[in-house]
Amino acid sequence: MAEEDNDAIIRVRDITVQFGETRVLDGLNLDVKRGEILGFVGPSGAGKSVLTRTIIGLVPKVSGSIEVFGVDLDAASSSQRRAVERRWGILFQQGALFSSLTVRQNIQFPAREYLRVSQRLLDEIMVAKLVMVGLKPEVADRYPSELSGGMIKRVALARALALDPELVFLDEPTSGLDPIAPAISTNWCAPCSALWG
Ligand SMILES: Nc1ncnc2c1ncn2[C@@H]1O[C@H](COP(=O)(O)OP(=O)(O)O)[C@@H](O)[C@H]1O
Ligand SMILES: [Mg+2]
Repeated sequence: MAEEDNDAIIRVRDITVQFGETRVLDGLNLDVKRGEILGFVGPSGAGKSVLTRTIIGLVPKVSGSIEVFGVDLDAASSSQRRAVERRWGILFQQGALFSSLTVRQNIQFPAREYLRVSQRLLDEIMVAKLVMVGLKPEVADRYPSELSGGMIKRVALARALALDPELVFLDEPTSGLDPIAPAISTNWCAPCSALWG
């Protein structure tokens, strides 16, 4: 279905994911509409990260279909898939920063991959994103091993937001952040504008 005819920007139908004998997701359906924030909550091991990773294509599914922005991700060509990936940002549960790259290089990575812009503009984007997540520009030349857990999460968030994505997947965005004491573990899937006003 064309994106214009379909206000669900994520459409998951009947997905089943299994590791060996363990079935983690069993016939799961969900729709996320433009402008909507969906949070999923559950105990450790419930399948929150697996669901996120299945939607973005990192975990293989046994059955079911996934459409994002009206594109069936199993049927998509590599250029269609790349066009979808250009429109989403992902914060992984452990940050998943590249350990051999500095904070600056980590945040600039998506822009280098998808945009052709000058180093000066890349640096401006990087500083703006660092400030947005509450970090000082001075941390730009540190490596991930020189950051606290909370700082890693903030840098990973800055990287997820680097291309001003229309859609963000946030896997436990608040865990490990010192000033925030979340009572529950939560994953979010949201259009960026809904989170940042
Ligand atoms: N790559 C994998 N191989 C085998 N089992 C996995 C894999 N990824 C996740 N699991 C299992 O799937 C279940 C759900 O994990 P996960 O989605 O990470 O939980 P959470 O809700 O805490 O994010 C757990 O039992 C976990 O051990
Ligand atoms: Mg998880």
